[in-house]
Amino acid sequence: MITRLGVVGAGLMGSGIAEVSSRKGLSVVVVEASQAALERARNRITKSIDRGVRSGKLTAAERDAALARIAFETDLSAIADSELVVEAVIEEESTKLELFRRIDEVVTDPNAILASNTSSIPIMKLGMATKRPESVVGIHFFNPVPVMPLVELVTSLLTDPNTAGAANRFATDQLGKHVILSKDRAGFIVNALLIPYILSAIRMFESGFATAEDIDTGMVDGCAHPMGPLALADLIGLDTTMAVAESLYSEFKEPLYAPPPLLSRMCEAGLLGRKTSRGFYQYD
Ligand code: CAA
Repeated sequence: MITRLGVVGAGLMGSGIAEVSSRKGLSVVVVEASQAALERARNRITKSIDRGVRSGKLTAAERDAALARIAFETDLSAIADSELVVEAVIEEESTKLELFRRIDEVVTDPNAILASNTSSIPIMKLGMATKRPESVVGIHFFNPVPVMPLVELVTSLLTDPNTAGAANRFATDQLGKHVILSKDRAGFIVNALLIPYILSAIRMFESGFATAEDIDTGMVDGCAHPMGPLALADLIGLDTTMAVAESLYSEFKEPLYAPPPLLSRMCEAGLLGRKTSRGFYQYD
C-alpha cells in the first residue's frame, strides 16, 4: 500500500494524477520547475476538485482535506521519501532520461517504485537511465485523469514482477482504475491504435476532403465516440500528439505513424489545442 507519492511534472496529466491520488487519501508531493508552474498546477487541481464538489462527488470538507494532502515544491529532493514516484513531464526523451537519472539519485527507499506516465517512450530506456531498472515501470493514465478509468501498466524486460504487482495494486485497489497490461513497445496498446487514427483524420482534413466539423461529427454521430478525432487531438495537445507520433515512427518506421505536415506546422505555430486556446478549433 502506497502512502507517500511523488509526482514530478504537473501539467495536465501530473495535476490529474496528484488530484485523484490525494482524493484517495495519499500524501502527494508535486514537483515543478518553477513557482509559476506550481501555481498553475494548484489552480488546475483546485478547479477540477471544485467541479467534483459541484457535481456532488465529494463534500467541501473532503475537498479541503484532499488539497491539504498535496505539497507543492520546486526542489526535486522533496520526493526523497516517496514510496512511488510518477514522472509526468513533457513527452521528450532527453528530458525524461535526465529526470530519471536525478530521481534515482534523490529517492532514498531502495524499494520505491519509479514510474513514468509516458504515452510512448519505451520503459527500458528510462529504466537504463537509473541504477535500478528493476524498479522502473510505466503507469500510463488517460486525459482527463479524474474521468478516464483506464491505466496502462507497462513493464520492461528488466522490471521486477514485484514492482509490477505493487504498481498494479496502487492503480487498481487504491485509485480504483482499470488496469490493462502492455509490453514495452512505443505507444503501448492505446496510442499504437489511437495515434494512427488521429493522424488519418488530420490527413483527411489537410487534403481538403472534409471539414473538421464533419470529420468529428462523423465519428461522434456515426460511431458513438464521445468526441471526434480532431477535437480529441486538441484535448490531448497537438505537441503531445506529435511527440507520440514521432516515438511510434522512430520505433516502427511505418508511414501510418508519420506526422502529417499540417500537424508539424500547427506545432511550430504554437497552435497546440485547448491549452493554447487554438488548435483545430478555437477555445475561449
Ligand atoms: N476534470 C475533472 N472532471 C472532468 C473533467 C476534468 N478535466 N472533464 C470532464 N469532467 C467530468 C465532468 O465534471 C462531468 O462529471 P459529472 O457527469 O459527474 O458532472 C463528466 O466528466 C462529463 O463532463 P462534461 O459533461 O463537461 O463533458 P462531456 O460529457 O463532453 O465529457 C469528456 C468530456 C470526459 C472529456 C469526454 O468528451 C470524453 O470522454 N472524451 C474522450 C476523452 C479521451 O478519449 N481521452 C483519452 C485521450 S488519450 C490520452 O489521454 C492518452 C495519451 O497518451 C495521449
